[in-house]
Amino acid sequence: MCRRPGEPPLITGWLPYLGQILNFQKDPLAFIKSLQKQHGDIFTILLGGKYITFILDPFQFQLVIKNHKQLSFKMFGNKVSHDAFSIKRLLTNQELDHELHVCYQYLQGKSLDVLCETMAQTINHIFESKLSSSRYWDTVQMLPFCTTVIFEVTFTSLYGKLLVADRKKFISELRDDLIKFDEKFAYLASGIPIEFLGNAKSMQKKIINRFTQENLAKMQGWSKVIQMRQDTLEKYYEPDDLEIGAHHFALLWASVANTIPTMFWAMYYLLRHPEAMAAVRDEIDHLLQSTGQKKGSGFLINFTREQLDSLVYLESIVLEALRLSSFSATFRFVEEDFALPVESGKCLLRKGDLVVIFPPALHNDPELFEAPEEFRYDRFVENGKKKTTFFKRGRKLNHYIVPFGLGSSKCPGRYFAVSQVKQLLVVLVTCLDLEIIDAKPVKQSNGRLLLGISYPRSDVFFKYKVKSWS
Ligand code: HEM
Repeated sequence: MCRRPGEPPLITGWLPYLGQILNFQKDPLAFIKSLQKQHGDIFTILLGGKYITFILDPFQFQLVIKNHKQLSFKMFGNKVSHDAFSIKRLLTNQELDHELHVCYQYLQGKSLDVLCETMAQTINHIFESKLSSSRYWDTVQMLPFCTTVIFEVTFTSLYGKLLVADRKKFISELRDDLIKFDEKFAYLASGIPIEFLGNAKSMQKKIINRFTQENLAKMQGWSKVIQMRQDTLEKYYEPDDLEIGAHHFALLWASVANTIPTMFWAMYYLLRHPEAMAAVRDEIDHLLQSTGQKKGSGFLINFTREQLDSLVYLESIVLEALRLSSFSATFRFVEEDFALPVESGKCLLRKGDLVVIFPPALHNDPELFEAPEEFRYDRFVENGKKKTTFFKRGRKLNHYIVPFGLGSSKCPGRYFAVSQVKQLLVVLVTCLDLEIIDAKPVKQSNGRLLLGISYPRSDVFFKYKVKSWS
């Protein structure tokens, strides 16, 4: 492809269509960093038939977000909804899309506080029934542990009680199908037809059928966000239209797909770093004392969202886990030929290409984060408070950690996700003795490509028992 003057350097590789996909898949961060060294902060790569322009300078992120008319998210987001979840109507109905986005306000503010209360009660309930008998050490694998807990807590907080004959079976089958489907998600999102991906189509159908009108009626005590979305969907679809189920499927996937690996990494690093554990235990003890709560009285620890957010070391550990594992790129579709006014002049973008903000390059920048490959539990704490000032080239950065995306497409579930991980860690740390068993470090899998939090490449065992208070 000939480059026009003002366009970023293009790296195609020798494979027609696939371009640089193999190099990228092998080690995305190392590959992008090597290109950054050669070509600077903006360049275009051919990846699986798509021309993707990477913007790596964090001072330019705002430009990408601001120019939403020329660089839009909708085209990309709605195509993924179509290809991965079989949601067709969003491609043609902008009002539906808009109204569904309005519902995301119920993942914030007062509705979020209510959601977090339900979540805390659900955690209490699950832990009472699953763990309260563990007076002796029990050994389990960390990833299935995190998967089971996050899925059940999320599903129950969002959809309420499930009035079916075998509730446990319904939930565990739905969870297992969703996890299997998730393994194909990166391929589906990159535009590979579902028919080429083994059993992905039947898996998709099976999950959508879990949300038929009849099954939805058996889920009682919905959160406000689910209720408002359902009300909106019923305005645009007949009540028995299976595409309603596809919308539920998409939201449920979004609500667990990244929270599960986030929980894994936060727990993994916490258990591997005794100094982190000590700092968190100490600040939780202080908060328990100042809120008049006693340890050892069951699994219910009643911290409000605000109180959870005051635990600065806990927050720092969750952010550090996200910093090290986040591959959540922010995509924009170039709607028309457009000159992005970057600091060095103008950068010409072609209609039909994609523009991407790639967080791992920022998250691993040694100018911001000393020894970026290391987990440092207190990286986001300064003088006993949250650290929010990070500098590059002597300038303060607005965006120094971006696991939830940016601008109009920024994850609406971010506060819920972070509160959930924090609440679970608080309960684990306070009520259980925990020890990691395997000493070998776990690496990240590259399977997520540009879409979300990395999964671990292998699992670890840990052991736990209920704390004895005598
Ligand atoms: C740690 C956990 C999570 C991470 C890292 C995460 C990350 C992301 C990212 C990177 C995006 C795309 C942003 C962009 O393109 O700019 C996104 C979108 C989204 N997330 Fe999350 N997310 C998490 C948890 C959740 C939860 C718990 C929910 C729901 C309760 C949720 C609901 C959504 C939805 C609905 C979208 C699509 C928004 C849109 O279409 O505009 N996410 N998330």
